[in-house]
Amino acid sequence: MKTEHAPSIQRADYQPLAWKVETVDLHFRLEPESTVVTNRMLCVRNREAEAGPIRLWGEDLERLSLTVDGQAPQAVREQGALLEIEADGERVVVEVQTRINPKANTTLSGLYLSNGGFFTQCEAEGFRRITCFPDRPDVMARFTVTLEADRKTCPVLLSNGNLVEQGELPGGRHYAKWEDPFPKPSYLFALVAADLVAYERTVETMSGREVLLQVWVEAGNLDRVEHAMDSLVHSMRWDEETFGLELDLDRFMIVAVADFNMGAMENKGLNIFNTKFILAKPDTATDVDYENVESVVAHEYFHNWTGNRVTCRDWFQLTLKEGLTVFRDQQFSADMLARAAGAEGAASACAVKRIDDVRVLRAAQFPEDAGPMAHPIRPDSYQEINNFYTATVYEKGAEVIRMLHTLLGPEGFRNGMDLYFSYFDGQAVTCDDFVEVMSEANNGFDLDQFMHWYSQAGTPRVKASGQWNAADGSYTLTLAQSTPATPGEHAKLPLVIPVAAGLIGPDGRDCPLQLEGESQPGPTTRVLKLTEASQSFRFVGLTAEPVPSLLRGFSAPVILELDEDDARLAFRMAHDADPCNRWDAAQRYAERVALAMAADPSAGVPAAFLDAFRALLGNAALDPAFRAQALALPGEAYLLERMKPADPLALRAALVRLMRTLGTSLAAEWLSTCEAMQVPGPYRYHPGDAGRRALANLALRYLAAAGNAEGLALAQRRFEGATNMTERFGALAALVQSTHPAREAVLAAFHARYRDDALVLDKWFALQAGAWRWDAAAAPTLARVKALMADAAFSLSNPNKVYALLGTYFRANPGEFHAADGSGHVFWADQVIALNAKNPQVAARMARALENWRHFVPALQASIRSQLERVLASPDLSPDVAEVVGKALD
Ligand code: TRP
Ligand code: ZN
Repeated sequence: MKTEHAPSIQRADYQPLAWKVETVDLHFRLEPESTVVTNRMLCVRNREAEAGPIRLWGEDLERLSLTVDGQAPQAVREQGALLEIEADGERVVVEVQTRINPKANTTLSGLYLSNGGFFTQCEAEGFRRITCFPDRPDVMARFTVTLEADRKTCPVLLSNGNLVEQGELPGGRHYAKWEDPFPKPSYLFALVAADLVAYERTVETMSGREVLLQVWVEAGNLDRVEHAMDSLVHSMRWDEETFGLELDLDRFMIVAVADFNMGAMENKGLNIFNTKFILAKPDTATDVDYENVESVVAHEYFHNWTGNRVTCRDWFQLTLKEGLTVFRDQQFSADMLARAAGAEGAASACAVKRIDDVRVLRAAQFPEDAGPMAHPIRPDSYQEINNFYTATVYEKGAEVIRMLHTLLGPEGFRNGMDLYFSYFDGQAVTCDDFVEVMSEANNGFDLDQFMHWYSQAGTPRVKASGQWNAADGSYTLTLAQSTPATPGEHAKLPLVIPVAAGLIGPDGRDCPLQLEGESQPGPTTRVLKLTEASQSFRFVGLTAEPVPSLLRGFSAPVILELDEDDARLAFRMAHDADPCNRWDAAQRYAERVALAMAADPSAGVPAAFLDAFRALLGNAALDPAFRAQALALPGEAYLLERMKPADPLALRAALVRLMRTLGTSLAAEWLSTCEAMQVPGPYRYHPGDAGRRALANLALRYLAAAGNAEGLALAQRRFEGATNMTERFGALAALVQSTHPAREAVLAAFHARYRDDALVLDKWFALQAGAWRWDAAAAPTLARVKALMADAAFSLSNPNKVYALLGTYFRANPGEFHAADGSGHVFWADQVIALNAKNPQVAARMARALENWRHFVPALQASIRSQLERVLASPDLSPDVAEVVGKALD
C-alpha cells in the first residue's frame, strides 16, 4: 500500500506500452465467493513504442495459471500490482486464469455483489481487480465475454455489445455470450448477472436504424423507470440534432444498482447507474431528483461519443471526457428546460439552469481550488487516480469547454467537434489534441494562451474598476487578472478570460455598447477578451454614468471583484437584464449582510436589504424558479470560504438570525406567495410547476425558521395533504428546520410511510444530519447522527447511506460539525478510519471534508489537526485516504 510518502505518478512520465491487446476473450464462472475468470488475450507488439515486456496489472487476485502461446512463460517479473512477461515475436496469446471473491469485495470496485446480484465497476482501475490486463485507457481491445451463473439467482446475464449466444448448462446453471464490436479500454468493460427485469422501448435513430433500449431494475421498481427511459430517448435525439451524433449499437442498456460509489458509469452499451439517478415516481422523487435523473442519464449517454468512441490516452486527460461531457449535459438540460418552458419562458429557464451550475461550482469547486488538493483541470501528478474525479476536473473542466464555445461561437465549436471525431474516432487522445483540433477547425484560431486553463490551478480573480468621463460620455472599464498561488504552483500566467459585459443606464435599461473606434453601437452584451494582466476597454456614446454588469451568464470560472455599494447591488437586483447577474447581485448582497452579522453579533439586517429582497419576492413578472434561486441564501460552504478567517459557528449564528429576520419581516409576503404558488392538478415533472413548488417550499422554510405560527400550520397541512414528494419533503424540511413541537412526529410519520424505500430513507437521513439547531437548548445534531447510525436501515457498506447521513453532516452542516468541543472532528476520524477498511473511495470522499481547515479560526485548527494526524497514523491506510489527509497536513 502507498503511504503519504508514496511516489506520485507524473503526467510527464507517460510512455506507450510495448505490447497492446487486440482481442480479449473472457469467461466468468460466477460464484459469490469464488468466481473464476479465464482471460485469453491476443497481445500484439506496439510499433510506436520501444521494445519491452508485456505489462499486465493485477490486484487482489489469486492467480491460478498463466501461459504464453500455451506454454509456461520464459520470464515473469512481479512488483506490486505489475506483472511483466518477456515474449518473442509480434503476436502472442496470453492466457490468465484468476480466482476472485466478489462477496468479500466491499470496495465496490471490480466485481462485487449487491443484493445477491453480480455487478462491476472498472473505472478507473477496477478491471485489474478482475483479471490481469494492461489496464490503461490507451489499450483498446475487442471484447468477447461469456458469463456462466446460477439460473435461479441470476436469471439475467449482461455484458457490453450484442448477445450472440445463450443456453442452459447442467446443475441449474446457464450462460450467455456477448460480443462488443467496438474496441474499448478495459475501464469500459461491464457485466451484470442478477435478478432484474427490463423496461423496453424500440426507437429509430436518425439514419433509420431500429435500436432496442432497456432499463433493467429489480421487479419492484418497474413503476419508476419511465422518466429515465424518456430521458434516454431525449438525450439520443438531442445528440443527433445538436452534434449529428447517433447511437452506434443495436442495443443500449441501463442497469440500476443500489450499491454504487458514484452517480453512474458509461460502460459501452451497458451503463450502470446508482438507483438514485434512475428511479423516479411522483410519490418518491422530488423535482430535483427528476432533473438529476435526466441529466445523469444524458451525461452517461453522451459519453458514448465523448469518452468511449474517443477516449483518454491516460488518466491525466480525464477532463477530456468529463469536462466535455458535463458541458454537453448542461447544454442538454438547459435546452430541455427551455423547450418545456415555451417561447416566453425559455431564456429564464436557461438562466435558472445556469445559476444551478454556478452554485455547484462555487460551493464545491472554488473551495477545492483554494485548498491543499487544488489541481489544474488536467493534473500533473496524483497518488490515487480515484481522488481526481473532482469538481475541478468535471465542473471547472466544463467551464473551460464553455469558454471555448463562447470564444469560437456555436458553429465554430460544432465544426471543431466534427473534426475531433473525424480525426480521433477509435483512438485514445489528449486534451492538447482536442484544443488543437478546435483551433484547426476555426482557421487556426490562436488557443496557445488558452491552454493555461489546462495547466494552472486556482480560481482567477478579475478586479474591475470603471471610470466615467462626463465630458465626453465615455466609460473606461479596467479589468485586471491574477491567480493566487496553489500548492506547488507559484507564478501564474495571465489567462484568456471572456468577460461578457453590459452597461446599465440610470433608467435600469441596458445601453447599446460602442467601443472606442467603432462607428456605431452594437448589442447590449459584449464579450470582452481579457488576455493581459490588466486591460482597459473604453465605451463611448453614453449620456449618463452607467452601472457595469460583468461576467454575464457567468462567462468564466473566476471571482469577480467589483466595488459596489449596497445601493448599486439593490439596483442590479432590480434591473440587471442578465438573470445570472441579477441573481448574483442578490447573492452578493446577502453575503455582505451575512458576513457583517457574523462579524458583529449585534449587527442587524439593513432595511434596504429587506426592501430589495421584498421587491424581488413580490415581482410576479419574474419566473418563480428564478425568484426561488435569488431569494435562497448563498450556500454555507461558499460563505465559509469567503469569510476570513472562516468561523463556522459565528456564521451559523448569523444565518439563523438572518433567516429569522427575513421570515419575520416578510411573513405576509411569504404566506401570500406560498398561496399563489399552489400547483393545481396531478403532479407532472415540468419546469414551470417545479419553479412554483420551489418558491412555495422556500417560503415555508423562511416562515418556519421564524417560528411563524401560520406558516408552521401551513407546512403541516401541506405535509399531510401532499400528493407528491416535492411538496411533502419541502414541508417536512421546513418543519424539521424549526422549533415546532411536531418535528419529531412528522419525521416519524414520514419514516413510517417510506420505511421500505431505501432512496426515500436517504432523504430522511440527510434531513436530520443537515438540521440546524433553532433552539439553543436542543441537543447537538451529532447525537442524532450517532443514533441514526444504529438505525436498521443505515449501513456503512452502502455509499448512498454514508453520503446521506455522514456526508451531509460533514459537508453540509458546518455549524454543527465544527462544534467548539471538537466532538464532530473526533467522530469524523472514527468514521473515516472505519470506512477506510471497507471502501477507500468513499472514505476518501468523507476525508476531504476537513481539507480547508487552515482557513479556519485558530480555536478550531488544533482540534482538526489532531484528528487529521490520528487518521494519518492509523494502520492500513488506503492510498486514497493517505493522499487526501497527507496533503491536508502538508
Ligand atoms: N465516469 C463516470 C462518469 O463520469 C464516473 C465514475 C468514475 C465512476 N469512476 C467511477 C462511477 C467509479 C462509479 C465508480 O459518469
Ligand atoms: Zn462522466
